[in-house]
Amino acid sequence: MALILVTGASRGIGLELACQYAEAGDKVIATCRDPETANALKHLEQSHPTVELQTLDVVDSLSILSLASLLSKRGDKLDVLINNAGMLVQEDPGEWTADAFSASLETNVVGPAMIMQAFEKVMADGGKMISISSGLGSFGMALDFGGPTGTYAASKAALNMVVCQLAPRLKQKGIVAVAFNPGWVKTDMGGQEATYTPQESVSSLRESFAKLTLDQAGQFIDHNYDSLPW
Ligand SMILES: NC(=O)c1ccc[n+]([C@@H]2O[C@H](COP(=O)([O-])OP(=O)(O)OC[C@H]3O[C@@H](n4cnc5c(N)ncnc54)[C@H](OP(=O)(O)O)[C@@H]3O)[C@@H](O)[C@H]2O)c1
Repeated sequence: MALILVTGASRGIGLELACQYAEAGDKVIATCRDPETANALKHLEQSHPTVELQTLDVVDSLSILSLASLLSKRGDKLDVLINNAGMLVQEDPGEWTADAFSASLETNVVGPAMIMQAFEKVMADGGKMISISSGLGSFGMALDFGGPTGTYAASKAALNMVVCQLAPRLKQKGIVAVAFNPGWVKTDMGGQEATYTPQESVSSLRESFAKLTLDQAGQFIDHNYDSLPW
Protein backbone atom coordinates (compact mmCIF):
# COMPACT_ATOMS: atom_id res chain seq x y z
CA MET A 1 0.00 0.00 0.00
CA ALA A 2 1.59 3.27 -1.15
CA LEU A 3 1.18 6.60 0.66
CA ILE A 4 0.01 9.38 -1.68
CA LEU A 5 -0.52 13.08 -0.90
CA VAL A 6 -2.61 15.21 -3.26
CA THR A 7 -3.03 19.00 -3.08
CA GLY A 8 -6.23 20.66 -4.31
CA ALA A 9 -8.22 17.44 -3.87
CA SER A 10 -11.61 19.13 -3.32
CA ARG A 11 -12.64 18.87 -6.99
CA GLY A 12 -11.51 18.26 -10.56
CA ILE A 13 -8.32 16.32 -11.28
CA GLY A 14 -7.22 16.37 -7.61
CA LEU A 15 -10.46 14.78 -6.42
CA GLU A 16 -10.22 12.10 -9.12
CA LEU A 17 -6.60 11.37 -8.16
CA ALA A 18 -7.70 10.86 -4.54
CA CYS A 19 -10.62 8.65 -5.64
CA GLN A 20 -8.59 6.42 -7.96
CA TYR A 21 -5.70 5.91 -5.52
CA ALA A 22 -8.21 5.15 -2.73
CA GLU A 23 -10.06 2.67 -4.95
CA ALA A 24 -6.72 1.00 -5.75
CA GLY A 25 -6.23 0.45 -2.00
CA ASP A 26 -3.53 3.07 -1.45
CA LYS A 27 -3.41 5.33 1.59
CA VAL A 28 -4.31 8.87 0.52
CA ILE A 29 -3.72 12.14 2.34
CA ALA A 30 -6.22 14.25 0.43
CA THR A 31 -5.65 17.93 1.10
CA CYS A 32 -7.75 20.98 0.41
CA ARG A 33 -8.01 24.50 1.72
CA ASP A 34 -11.50 24.15 3.25
CA PRO A 35 -12.41 20.60 4.35
CA GLU A 36 -15.78 21.82 5.74
CA THR A 37 -17.08 22.60 2.24
CA ALA A 38 -15.33 19.75 0.40
CA ASN A 39 -18.38 17.47 0.37
CA ALA A 40 -17.17 14.98 -2.26
CA LEU A 41 -13.91 14.57 -0.38
CA LYS A 42 -15.68 14.13 2.96
CA HIS A 43 -17.79 11.42 1.34
CA LEU A 44 -14.64 9.71 0.03
CA GLU A 45 -13.09 9.83 3.49
CA GLN A 46 -16.21 8.28 5.03
CA SER A 47 -16.39 5.48 2.47
CA HIS A 48 -12.64 4.66 2.39
CA PRO A 49 -10.82 4.12 5.71
CA THR A 50 -7.45 4.65 3.96
CA VAL A 51 -8.33 8.26 3.05
CA GLU A 52 -7.38 11.05 5.42
CA LEU A 53 -8.51 14.62 4.83
CA GLN A 54 -6.09 17.39 5.81
CA THR A 55 -6.19 21.16 5.43
CA LEU A 56 -3.57 22.63 3.10
CA ASP A 57 -3.71 26.04 1.48
CA VAL A 58 -0.79 26.12 -0.94
CA VAL A 59 -0.35 29.89 -0.65
CA ASP A 60 -0.10 29.78 3.15
CA SER A 61 3.44 28.97 4.36
CA LEU A 62 2.24 28.16 7.87
CA SER A 63 -0.29 25.69 6.48
CA ILE A 64 2.45 24.00 4.39
CA LEU A 65 4.93 23.82 7.27
CA SER A 66 2.37 22.52 9.79
CA LEU A 67 1.26 19.65 7.58
CA ALA A 68 4.86 18.71 6.72
CA SER A 69 5.68 18.79 10.42
CA LEU A 70 2.67 16.63 11.33
CA LEU A 71 3.73 13.97 8.80
CA SER A 72 7.31 14.15 10.02
CA LYS A 73 6.25 13.67 13.67
CA ARG A 74 4.14 10.67 12.69
CA GLY A 75 7.02 9.17 10.73
CA ASP A 76 4.98 9.12 7.51
CA LYS A 77 6.95 8.59 4.30
CA LEU A 78 5.26 9.68 1.09
CA ASP A 79 5.68 7.50 -1.98
CA VAL A 80 3.99 10.07 -4.22
CA LEU A 81 3.35 13.77 -3.65
CA ILE A 82 1.17 15.45 -6.27
CA ASN A 83 1.30 19.24 -6.52
CA ASN A 84 -2.07 19.49 -8.23
CA ALA A 85 -3.74 22.64 -6.82
CA GLY A 86 -3.84 25.42 -9.36
CA MET A 87 -5.80 28.40 -10.60
CA LEU A 88 -6.57 30.05 -13.92
CA VAL A 89 -7.65 33.66 -14.40
CA GLN A 90 -8.42 34.59 -17.99
CA GLU A 91 -7.48 38.14 -18.91
CA ASP A 92 -6.69 39.44 -22.38
CA PRO A 93 -3.20 40.77 -23.06
CA GLY A 94 -3.22 44.48 -22.38
CA GLU A 95 -5.76 43.99 -19.60
CA TRP A 96 -3.73 41.89 -17.21
CA THR A 97 -4.07 42.94 -13.59
CA ALA A 98 -1.30 42.71 -11.01
CA ASP A 99 -3.63 41.13 -8.45
CA ALA A 100 -4.74 38.26 -10.71
CA PHE A 101 -1.24 37.69 -12.10
CA SER A 102 0.30 37.68 -8.60
CA ALA A 103 -2.37 35.27 -7.31
CA SER A 104 -1.66 32.88 -10.21
CA LEU A 105 2.07 32.99 -9.53
CA GLU A 106 1.54 32.44 -5.79
CA THR A 107 -0.75 29.45 -6.35
CA ASN A 108 0.84 27.85 -9.41
CA VAL A 109 4.54 28.54 -8.81
CA VAL A 110 5.50 29.70 -5.31
CA GLY A 111 3.14 27.34 -3.48
CA PRO A 112 4.31 24.18 -5.31
CA ALA A 113 7.96 25.24 -4.83
CA MET A 114 7.46 25.72 -1.08
CA ILE A 115 5.68 22.37 -0.87
CA MET A 116 8.51 20.59 -2.67
CA GLN A 117 11.00 22.07 -0.20
CA ALA A 118 8.93 21.49 2.93
CA PHE A 119 7.93 17.90 2.13
CA GLU A 120 11.37 16.73 0.99
CA LYS A 121 12.02 15.41 4.52
CA VAL A 122 8.90 13.23 4.51
CA MET A 123 9.48 11.59 1.12
CA ALA A 124 10.24 7.88 0.97
CA ASP A 125 13.46 6.75 -0.68
CA GLY A 126 12.48 6.39 -4.33
CA GLY A 127 9.56 8.79 -3.78
CA LYS A 128 7.98 10.74 -6.63
CA MET A 129 7.23 14.48 -6.52
CA ILE A 130 4.90 15.36 -9.32
CA SER A 131 3.84 18.87 -10.28
CA ILE A 132 0.79 19.16 -12.49
CA SER A 133 1.78 21.67 -15.14
CA SER A 134 0.10 22.38 -18.49
CA GLY A 135 0.80 22.21 -22.20
CA LEU A 136 -0.03 25.92 -22.17
CA GLY A 137 3.21 26.47 -20.23
CA SER A 138 5.31 24.90 -23.00
CA PHE A 139 7.01 27.19 -25.55
CA GLY A 140 7.32 24.20 -27.87
CA MET A 141 3.68 23.12 -27.67
CA ALA A 142 1.95 26.50 -27.67
CA LEU A 143 -0.20 26.76 -30.78
CA ASP A 144 -0.75 30.46 -30.40
CA PHE A 145 0.42 33.28 -28.24
CA GLY A 146 -1.69 36.26 -27.29
CA GLY A 147 -4.81 34.54 -25.92
CA PRO A 148 -6.55 35.11 -22.57
CA THR A 149 -4.62 32.35 -20.77
CA GLY A 150 -1.32 34.25 -20.95
CA THR A 151 -0.64 34.76 -17.25
CA TYR A 152 -1.62 31.15 -16.51
CA ALA A 153 0.74 29.95 -19.27
CA ALA A 154 3.53 32.10 -17.83
CA SER A 155 2.92 30.62 -14.37
CA LYS A 156 3.10 27.04 -15.69
CA ALA A 157 6.30 27.81 -17.66
CA ALA A 158 7.74 29.10 -14.37
CA LEU A 159 6.53 25.97 -12.55
CA ASN A 160 8.38 23.85 -15.12
CA MET A 161 11.57 25.77 -14.37
CA VAL A 162 11.01 25.32 -10.61
CA VAL A 163 10.86 21.56 -11.17
CA CYS A 164 14.09 21.67 -13.21
CA GLN A 165 15.81 23.76 -10.55
CA LEU A 166 14.84 21.55 -7.58
CA ALA A 167 15.10 18.17 -9.33
CA PRO A 168 18.90 17.73 -9.09
CA ARG A 169 18.94 18.25 -5.30
CA LEU A 170 15.98 15.89 -4.87
CA LYS A 171 17.56 13.32 -7.17
CA GLN A 172 20.61 13.18 -4.87
CA LYS A 173 18.18 12.24 -2.09
CA GLY A 174 16.60 9.48 -4.18
CA ILE A 175 13.47 11.49 -5.06
CA VAL A 176 12.33 11.98 -8.68
CA ALA A 177 10.74 15.39 -9.33
CA VAL A 178 8.94 15.92 -12.65
CA ALA A 179 6.28 18.09 -14.29
CA PHE A 180 3.25 16.48 -15.94
CA ASN A 181 0.67 17.69 -18.44
CA PRO A 182 -2.75 16.15 -17.66
CA GLY A 183 -4.16 16.98 -21.10
CA TRP A 184 -7.22 19.17 -21.60
CA VAL A 185 -9.66 17.89 -18.97
CA LYS A 186 -13.38 18.47 -18.33
CA THR A 187 -13.26 20.25 -14.95
CA ASP A 188 -14.30 23.66 -13.65
CA MET A 189 -11.01 24.93 -15.06
CA GLY A 190 -10.92 22.99 -18.34
CA GLY A 191 -14.64 23.42 -19.18
CA GLN A 192 -16.98 20.86 -20.73
CA GLU A 193 -15.49 21.21 -24.24
CA ALA A 194 -12.24 19.61 -23.06
CA THR A 195 -10.85 16.40 -24.57
CA TYR A 196 -10.69 14.08 -21.56
CA THR A 197 -12.88 13.25 -18.59
CA PRO A 198 -11.09 13.47 -15.23
CA GLN A 199 -11.32 9.65 -15.07
CA GLU A 200 -9.49 9.25 -18.41
CA SER A 201 -6.79 11.80 -17.62
CA VAL A 202 -6.14 10.44 -14.13
CA SER A 203 -6.02 6.77 -15.27
CA SER A 204 -3.43 7.76 -17.83
CA LEU A 205 -1.49 9.89 -15.33
CA ARG A 206 -1.42 7.12 -12.71
CA GLU A 207 -0.08 4.60 -15.20
CA SER A 208 2.66 7.06 -16.14
CA PHE A 209 3.51 7.95 -12.53
CA ALA A 210 3.98 4.24 -11.80
CA LYS A 211 6.63 3.96 -14.54
CA LEU A 212 8.76 6.93 -13.39
CA THR A 213 12.40 6.31 -12.56
CA LEU A 214 15.07 8.52 -11.02
CA ASP A 215 16.65 9.00 -14.46
CA GLN A 216 13.64 11.11 -15.46
CA ALA A 217 14.28 13.74 -12.77
CA GLY A 218 13.56 17.23 -14.11
CA GLN A 219 11.56 16.13 -17.16
CA PHE A 220 8.26 17.44 -18.56
CA ILE A 221 6.00 14.47 -19.39
CA ASP A 222 2.58 14.08 -20.99
CA HIS A 223 -0.22 12.17 -19.21
CA ASN A 224 0.36 9.27 -21.64
CA TYR A 225 4.10 9.16 -20.81
CA ASP A 226 5.29 10.92 -23.99
CA SER A 227 8.05 13.41 -23.31
CA LEU A 228 7.17 17.05 -23.95
CA PRO A 229 9.15 20.03 -25.21
CA TRP A 230 9.77 22.92 -22.85
N1 LIG B 1 -8.45 21.02 -16.55
C1 LIG B 1 -7.52 21.13 -17.49
O1 LIG B 1 -7.80 21.07 -18.70
C2 LIG B 1 -6.08 21.31 -17.09
C3 LIG B 1 -5.13 21.32 -18.13
C4 LIG B 1 -3.78 21.47 -17.80
C5 LIG B 1 -3.40 21.59 -16.48
N2 LIG B 1 -4.35 21.59 -15.49
C6 LIG B 1 -3.87 21.71 -14.11
O2 LIG B 1 -4.39 20.63 -13.35
C7 LIG B 1 -4.53 21.02 -11.97
C8 LIG B 1 -5.96 20.73 -11.51
O3 LIG B 1 -6.83 21.47 -12.35
P1 LIG B 1 -8.41 21.21 -12.43
O4 LIG B 1 -8.77 21.24 -13.86
O5 LIG B 1 -8.78 20.07 -11.57
O6 LIG B 1 -8.91 22.60 -11.78
P2 LIG B 1 -10.19 22.94 -10.88
O7 LIG B 1 -11.29 22.03 -11.20
O8 LIG B 1 -10.37 24.41 -11.04
O9 LIG B 1 -9.68 22.61 -9.40
C9 LIG B 1 -8.62 23.36 -8.86
C10 LIG B 1 -8.27 22.78 -7.51
O10 LIG B 1 -7.18 23.54 -6.96
C11 LIG B 1 -7.56 23.94 -5.66
N3 LIG B 1 -6.88 25.16 -5.22
C12 LIG B 1 -6.85 26.36 -5.83
N4 LIG B 1 -6.13 27.22 -5.07
C13 LIG B 1 -5.72 26.54 -3.98
C14 LIG B 1 -4.97 26.87 -2.84
N5 LIG B 1 -4.48 28.09 -2.63
N6 LIG B 1 -4.69 25.90 -1.92
C15 LIG B 1 -5.19 24.65 -2.09
N7 LIG B 1 -5.94 24.28 -3.14
C16 LIG B 1 -6.20 25.23 -4.07
C17 LIG B 1 -9.07 24.13 -5.72
O11 LIG B 1 -9.59 24.16 -4.41
P3 LIG B 1 -10.98 24.92 -4.01
O12 LIG B 1 -12.07 23.92 -4.27
O13 LIG B 1 -10.77 25.25 -2.58
O14 LIG B 1 -11.08 26.13 -4.89
C18 LIG B 1 -9.43 22.90 -6.52
O15 LIG B 1 -9.44 21.75 -5.70
C19 LIG B 1 -4.17 22.51 -11.94
O16 LIG B 1 -2.82 22.66 -11.53
C20 LIG B 1 -4.34 22.94 -13.37
O17 LIG B 1 -3.57 24.08 -13.68
C21 LIG B 1 -5.68 21.45 -15.77
